[in-house]
Amino acid sequence: MSVIILDRVVKTYPNGTRAVKDIDLAIEPGHFTVILGPSGAGKSTLLRLMNGLEKPSEGTVSVHDTVLGKKNLRAIRREVGMVFQQFNLVGRLNVMTNVLTGRLAYRSWLGSVLHLFREEDFRIAQAALARVDLTEKAWVRADQLSGGQQQRVGIARALAQRPRVILADEPVASLDPLTSREVLDLLKGICQDDHIPVVANLHQVDYAREYADRVIGVNSGRVVFDGSPDQLTDAMVDELYQRAAPVKEPLHEASTLAHA
Ligand SMILES: Nc1ncnc2c1ncn2[C@@H]1O[C@H](COP(=O)(O)OP(=O)(O)O)[C@@H](O)[C@H]1O
Ligand SMILES: [Mg+2]
Repeated sequence: MSVIILDRVVKTYPNGTRAVKDIDLAIEPGHFTVILGPSGAGKSTLLRLMNGLEKPSEGTVSVHDTVLGKKNLRAIRREVGMVFQQFNLVGRLNVMTNVLTGRLAYRSWLGSVLHLFREEDFRIAQAALARVDLTEKAWVRADQLSGGQQQRVGIARALAQRPRVILADEPVASLDPLTSREVLDLLKGICQDDHIPVVANLHQVDYAREYADRVIGVNSGRVVFDGSPDQLTDAMVDELYQRAAPVKEPLHEASTLAHA
């Protein structure tokens, strides 16, 4: 069973920008999937569609065979962990509280407002912090941590949701190369060892080649490559980044474009 399915999805923003143009896509379990493409390609829009933060203008998005709609949005969204480029932590709160917010979707509205967490929530949050190796920082203010540590807290918060998939939007774009590798190693480990599939937007080809099980190349709102990293030839990368006009047909073989 696919984790997420996009069925003929189109996304047109209210200002008329068509960010996603008729995309069919199935995210498979066990994979570290990288969505690769230049700025403005539609990568963030795709991720936001996958967790219901954006509603498709046409087509449907399903998470574990359930089509996203108004009624199931809250329930589905908690199964989908999000990791952000800017970490999106509350800096003045301590690390533990930030991770606990990953539990909010499981609590009542009132419990959420009052930050009433249960014993079980603490245990899950503690385990998530241990998983990212930050147990000793639990009671430190989030804004006292380095960028890499803050991103690991962001990942712990996603893990605390007990998600069935993690979506990471440019998770290392604000980090230096060494820290970027630590964060990508961690996400890859979560994918392989904890069996939580990861979909990450990246714009760096090298990281995609090194970490991805599958690369989905996106340009101008369309899928222009879909294959394993070793199918991603240099010619294909040039096409992905230099193509000016929108592609007419999605191409699924690196060789097709290499010879085009
Ligand atoms: N909220 C929005 N309203 C209007 N246009 C948007 C919005 N968000 C993104 N866009 C436009 O949609 C296109 C795709 O953007 P985005 O998904 O952010 O691409 P990427 O993440 O690959 O850089 C761009 O042209 C961008 O300017
Ligand atoms: Mg983006």
